[in-house]
Amino acid sequence: MADLSTPRGLWDDAERLSVDELRTLQLSRLRTTLYRVYTHVPHYRAAFNSAGVHPDDLRSLEDLARFPLTSKADLRDNYPFGMFAVPREEVSRVHASSGTTGRPTVVGYTAADLDVWSDVMARSIRAAGGRRGDLLHVAYGYGLFTGGLGAHYGAERLGCTVVPVSGGMTERQVQLIGDFQPRIIMVTPSYFLAIADEMERQGVNPATSSLEIGIFGAEPWTDEMRREIEGRCAMHAVDIYGLSEVMGPGVAQECVETKDGLHVWEDHFYPEIVDPVSGEVLPDGEEGELVFTSLTKQAMPVIRYRTRDLTRLLPGTARPSYRRMEKVTGRTDDMMIVRGVNVFPTQIEEQLLKVAGLTPHYLCVLTRPGRMDELIVRVEAHDAGMGAGARSELARTLARFVKDHVGVTVDVEVTEPHALERSLGKAKRIEDNRGR
Ligand code: DLL
Repeated sequence: MADLSTPRGLWDDAERLSVDELRTLQLSRLRTTLYRVYTHVPHYRAAFNSAGVHPDDLRSLEDLARFPLTSKADLRDNYPFGMFAVPREEVSRVHASSGTTGRPTVVGYTAADLDVWSDVMARSIRAAGGRRGDLLHVAYGYGLFTGGLGAHYGAERLGCTVVPVSGGMTERQVQLIGDFQPRIIMVTPSYFLAIADEMERQGVNPATSSLEIGIFGAEPWTDEMRREIEGRCAMHAVDIYGLSEVMGPGVAQECVETKDGLHVWEDHFYPEIVDPVSGEVLPDGEEGELVFTSLTKQAMPVIRYRTRDLTRLLPGTARPSYRRMEKVTGRTDDMMIVRGVNVFPTQIEEQLLKVAGLTPHYLCVLTRPGRMDELIVRVEAHDAGMGAGARSELARTLARFVKDHVGVTVDVEVTEPHALERSLGKAKRIEDNRGR
């Protein structure tokens, strides 16, 4: 595949900052943000007061650790607009999380925030290998979810021709890709697999499509999945990360030339890693929960927001001043404890992609037949009409890989192709039947 690295001449000024310049910028932006929330958001004023801290206490970036963490519950308690730091009339747009449990969380953006978002998204698409003039197919959902509109305005900012398809109508996605010949697609990796399957169903080899770059995010996916997609579709697959509470997509982006984790755009989003139990800050290199403080947001700044995503921070490579976050292992809420061993769906994904004859369509089903949780991995076979013997051979192989590499005993059910429900956006990887 062609070398798509971005020449330095195309970088933003901010991408060229030295580490010292970046730290100075962060400290001054952080101070402004702390004052902004202390003055305008009652929740933060109360939280700072009860922790006995004041924005004046911030003398260095390390002092941020003295300030309280913010959780999703804090946003829910202030539903819908209580976390805004500007009058509602100054908010140009709101987005909201799906809120599978309880109230959704609402986030707001001023016109200036939307401008920054477009800039970091444009920077992200460029780091993925995108260029002005590229045709870019957006299959992230449009609406309250930040994926579609976030990708859309970033791609326009870079100067791409945007095809705003949104999620769903998979047959038509394939038709439009064939007709319009996009170079780039932005979509969740799991939905991209559904699109690639549909191409094959229509007799199109995905490796011959016009797509050269996939910018995949909104859910955890593994390096094994990258190899699977790149091999099958002859394209670059790079990771994009973000969350509504902090901005949306474009908080961190993997560079196409290194594919070694995601550079956090630290001029706007300050990352920390904390121990998920104690909340203590951990040094770079150690795995823990990712926490973000927004540095430039006006409508709804967040201070030390707990993402629940597990990863670690690593030194910069393709953008030397910007730290990388390793591909996310999973969310703290998605950790399954099976016979005392912690397991994430991504660990299962890593193993099943090593077994020829299995597809990357899978579901982890948790049950509790006795007093302990048990895990059934349901995964689709590649070929239809396989005999029972061949299927149980595949199941045994996967169970052995999981036992050897993850250290846990699982039951594996190999299903017919297309037996599992396809998602049009974020894949559901866990079905919890423990209450049944
Ligand atoms: O998923 C924003 C987004 C849209 C990111 C499109 C990338 C592409 P939310 O719906 O608020 O926002 O969900 C945020 O999704 O805390 C992670 O758990 C997960 N997530 C997002 N990107 C990745 C990724 C969007 N690249 C939540 N790898 C986050 C792993 C991801 N998990």
